[in-house]
Amino acid sequence: MCGIMGYVGPQQAGPILIDGLRRLEYRGYDSSGIAVGNGTIRVQKAEGKIKNLEALLAEDPPTGSIGIGHTRWATHGAPTDANAHPHADPSGEFVVVHNGIIENFQDIKDELAALGAEFASETDSELLAHLVAREYDGDLAEAVRKTVALSQGAYAMVVMSTREPDTIIAVRKISPLVIGLGDGETFLASDIPAILHHTRDFLVIEDDELVIVTADGATIETISGEPVDREPIHIDWDAAQSEKGGYEHFMLKEINEQPDVITETLRGRLNADGTVGLEGLEFDDDYIAGLDRVWITACGTAYNAGLIGQEIFRRVLRLPANVEYAHELRDADPIIGPKELLIAISQSGETADTLAAARIAPDHGARMLAITNVVGSTLSRYADDILYTRAGPEISVASTKAYMAMLIAQYLLALRIGAARGTVDEAHARAVALGLHQLPRAVREVLSRESEVLAAAERIVDADDVYFIGRGLDYAIALEGSLKLKELSYLHSEAMPAGELKHGTLALITDGVPVIVLLTQRHVYNKTISAVQEVKARGGEILAVAYDTDTEIEKYSDTVMRIPDMNDLLAPVAAVVPLQLLAYHVARMRGHDIDQPRNLAKSVTVE
Ligand code: F6R
Repeated sequence: MCGIMGYVGPQQAGPILIDGLRRLEYRGYDSSGIAVGNGTIRVQKAEGKIKNLEALLAEDPPTGSIGIGHTRWATHGAPTDANAHPHADPSGEFVVVHNGIIENFQDIKDELAALGAEFASETDSELLAHLVAREYDGDLAEAVRKTVALSQGAYAMVVMSTREPDTIIAVRKISPLVIGLGDGETFLASDIPAILHHTRDFLVIEDDELVIVTADGATIETISGEPVDREPIHIDWDAAQSEKGGYEHFMLKEINEQPDVITETLRGRLNADGTVGLEGLEFDDDYIAGLDRVWITACGTAYNAGLIGQEIFRRVLRLPANVEYAHELRDADPIIGPKELLIAISQSGETADTLAAARIAPDHGARMLAITNVVGSTLSRYADDILYTRAGPEISVASTKAYMAMLIAQYLLALRIGAARGTVDEAHARAVALGLHQLPRAVREVLSRESEVLAAAERIVDADDVYFIGRGLDYAIALEGSLKLKELSYLHSEAMPAGELKHGTLALITDGVPVIVLLTQRHVYNKTISAVQEVKARGGEILAVAYDTDTEIEKYSDTVMRIPDMNDLLAPVAAVVPLQLLAYHVARMRGHDIDQPRNLAKSVTVE
């Protein structure tokens, strides 16, 4: 995800901007740049790592005590020097950095092009510089306000101009932005860690606010120009904690980021009527209508995400679908034909097994669609079609928010396929769209119930074995809950379809053995309850994940982790959250290294 920096004060801006960008590196980026002013504004930018930018600056150091900087994570246009930020209007007098997506960028671009504008990049962000320049009439804040009114989407934007050489204007529409208040100098950044070593006093900018930044401080207004009175907050965290946004571990931070990840993955792609626009998919409706089968291949958590896709494609779209572990598929000599689509899912886009399995598609004349989090990853380069998950960089080795984004991406893909094949009617698509848009709120609600998870964690922290059961989509979530628990807590755990328990594993259920049961699939509820009764009859302990309205489960369970009522098809999104938190808390209670659990790598590049 892009990072933003800004500085105005008595010092040289260049080194401060570079230092801040370095501290934002953990967000992930593929190019960087700065603009520094001293009457004129000089933009310097480079593809790749910040050291490439530093090499440019070493040859030709910028001078000036006001500036803005950016690390870019490509969305519109490849990671190149030209597409890197900052972007200037053709006169070079208005310079912009931007984090987020302008949804109506094509309309704006067409309008500007019709008036004769020429563009130096392929980005949506450059258009903002053109608009600010066009709207400027002696008041930079007003020009920015007008630009915001013209641009739909969620973003943060920071603007400087030779016309008002002592001022930086910034706007927040969802993407984060903070102002650091120094003594005669003011800093601006995407998040606190970038500038915490300069100051501990911050103004946190809220959505739809505009801030006028000078060396003397910052004035906040609503985007419509109403003054906002905001007290600065004082940060006591140390530097290491602050990188984690005040959370004890990256994993907890990333679990808590999931509502925003859902919003980000949906952004600009899903309409209220359930139609979707997925920018990286090159195939057309005829291709989808002619599909005989979908294969999904992945490893680990990504495989577990693929199981959700498999169930949705089969049960809802009535499209044959098979999910296969990549390391199995690649050597299985599968029968794949040109009328079949292979979907490879990988957070990193670098997992060697998944890359090898993905290569099967071209060998059989099939298309390969990559669902990945990393722009420009090897998997994305192999792919015919790409669906980026937009989870942002995931630092914790155990995957949480990237898994969440994989689920959302697959729902979007299912809506696209269902519409083209006529297997999802308009009313159903509309209902799913509404449900998807409500998910961030539902996940926030689940996150607020951490005490229920802590109670469950206390019950299993000293167990030798833990079992997870569920049916259908609940089984897929059981697998993910079990994987998270074992990789973090090093407890032995196993997940199985609830109906399978009685075919053997029940032998292991004795007094006090914990069984975690998922109960979000109403059409198989009673059958899952039968498995619960089998467990209870042998003295096992039941820890349930159930809807708020499920009163039946209280008869059998020792503890319940509740999720709000919702469409069963979307319930995995909410139901996985208590299980992620459960793994986290059990590992914490057992004193383990949470962000770097033993024997697990973030990107497994060996087969
Ligand atoms: C689990 C985990 C691993 C990865 C697996 C695939 O928390 O992180 O199981 O999911 O190694 O990685 P990607 O998605 O990068 O292909």
